[in-house]
Amino acid sequence: MTVGWGSSCRGLAGGSHQEMKRQPGLMMELNSRLVPHIWAVGDDVNSSLILLKQGAEARVFESTFAGRKSIIKERFSKKYRHPLLDSKLTLKRLNAEARCMTKARRLGVCTPVLYFVDPVLHTLTFEYIEGPSVKDILLKFGLHGVQEEQLDDIATQIGSAIAKLHDGGLIHGDLTTSNMLIRSGANGLVLIDFGLSFTSTLPEDKAVDLYVLERALLSMHSSCGNVMDRILAAYRKSSKQWSSTLNKLAQELVGEALLSSLFQMLSEKLDSPENLNFYYGL
Ligand SMILES: Nc1ncnc2c1ncn2[C@@H]1O[C@H](COP(=O)(O)OP(=O)(O)OP(=O)(O)O)[C@@H](O)[C@H]1O
Ligand SMILES: [Mg+2]
Repeated sequence: MTVGWGSSCRGLAGGSHQEMKRQPGLMMELNSRLVPHIWAVGDDVNSSLILLKQGAEARVFESTFAGRKSIIKERFSKKYRHPLLDSKLTLKRLNAEARCMTKARRLGVCTPVLYFVDPVLHTLTFEYIEGPSVKDILLKFGLHGVQEEQLDDIATQIGSAIAKLHDGGLIHGDLTTSNMLIRSGANGLVLIDFGLSFTSTLPEDKAVDLYVLERALLSMHSSCGNVMDRILAAYRKSSKQWSSTLNKLAQELVGEALLSSLFQMLSEKLDSPENLNFYYGL
């Protein structure tokens, strides 16, 4: 099987990881197409390319760069878009992700080191972070009981990292616990996945960023208690502009509470047949 880069191109890896494992020849060919910089630095051309995640927008691979374990994130094209427009949009998103990740680092937030941007293959290559995601840690707490000290440490790190981003005018855009890793050994928080990030100084945007995290914590980790309160306490301590952001967040939450009680009221009313008749004008 050969994989071309023309209109029939299936992307960086073409086949699945299993496919690559079964066909070492295919793996070599794909890697030789991979990123020219790997040749330039004399890296092992046959280094493996392991598919970690296939998302709606991107594929994430584990690989090596200059002898170091690395992550390659490939944004793939959308078949329903005009090829020219698609290429422009994909490149724009790729550059935006690279820029935002670099900006976050400059603001003092730990992120993986960006090794390489390939505008032709639409890939970003960055440092591989060894260690579990915050999602994995909190899910373990859910099963085996919360370790208060560790939870406090993680929440504090999350709150102060977000405060640094926001005070520097950067919105992460996808604050979920799977986009937060804890580096083994150092136990330091590393933020990843800046694919939806953008710059803004508006309290509304910062509040929505926090709101997304609150929803993610509620839906995934409710058994860990109120982690968000701890995160917000750290955010308040670290951010100079906490007050306007937290006011907006409170408005967001009040709005949500009002909507949900309105919905509850309506569904109770719709439960009874006479009300159904009334609503449908029967
Ligand atoms: N630098 C890294 N080190 C270790 N693992 C990583 C790294 N980057 C990504 N991963 C792993 O790959 C997964 C997917 O990566 P990422 O979140 O960047 O992509 P995605 O969610 O598919 O992106 P998008 O939301 O932009 O579609 C992460 O949840 C994590 O498990
Ligand atoms: Mg992600």
